[in-house]
Amino acid sequence: MAKIYTTHDRSVPPYEEQFPTPGFLPTTPALISVADEETGIPNIMPAVGWGFLNRLPLYLGVAVSVQEHTVDYYKRGTHQLLKRAMDFALNFPTDRLREEVALCGKLSRAKDPNVDKFKEAGLTPVPGKRISSPHIGECPINYECKVGPIVPMGSHDLFLGEVVGCFTDGVVGSGRSPVHGTTRLEMTRDDGTVLVIEFESWIREVSDSARD
Ligand SMILES: Cc1cc2nc3c(=O)[nH]c(=O)nc-3n(C[C@H](O)[C@H](O)[C@H](O)COP(=O)(O)O)c2cc1C
Repeated sequence: MAKIYTTHDRSVPPYEEQFPTPGFLPTTPALISVADEETGIPNIMPAVGWGFLNRLPLYLGVAVSVQEHTVDYYKRGTHQLLKRAMDFALNFPTDRLREEVALCGKLSRAKDPNVDKFKEAGLTPVPGKRISSPHIGECPINYECKVGPIVPMGSHDLFLGEVVGCFTDGVVGSGRSPVHGTTRLEMTRDDGTVLVIEFESWIREVSDSARD
């Protein structure tokens, strides 16, 4: 089948118009939590722009919007907070937290400097062990990261976070650490129950006839 080709350049379409190239969100959103010494109110920002980018040292990367482009692409409050705190936690929510994730992506410290997203979303800030930023109690996996190199890319800055610790909601199964190339994590909790975390790894094609 012939492919359709769309040209992509650097122009930003007017406000209400879509970018010409197709976009989709290929990963589980992660939640950046970061301290704010000034107000004492830590912040939360959902990010699909994240990844494990280096093994030794272990770096996670998060892409945080830094430029004012459109109603969606503005300089995040989180950007300033990351530069100030120089650390953050990267928290992985489960699908039970969809509404909370959406709310944290709607509220903004850039637009409302006093908003307390932990309070608004009913999430619990848990003090960090090796970093100043708290992590999110309700998320079963939390990586503690110290900000390393910050790579300017254009609309977003890539913050590399060196992982210095990780909380999991139980003992990770099969002696595997969460960072060893698996899309499925099993954790045995204190009460003996097993928590299974599954990340989507492959795109599935669903044809019209198979859709229900
Ligand atoms: C699921 C989801 C994923 C998002 N991914 C990113 C991202 O990778 N980078 C980014 O800069 N903003 C991303 N956003 C948008 C910010 O989370 C949103 O603008 C937020 O309100 C910014 O909050 P802040 O100003 O308090 O930092 C995402 C939002 C949602 C809901």
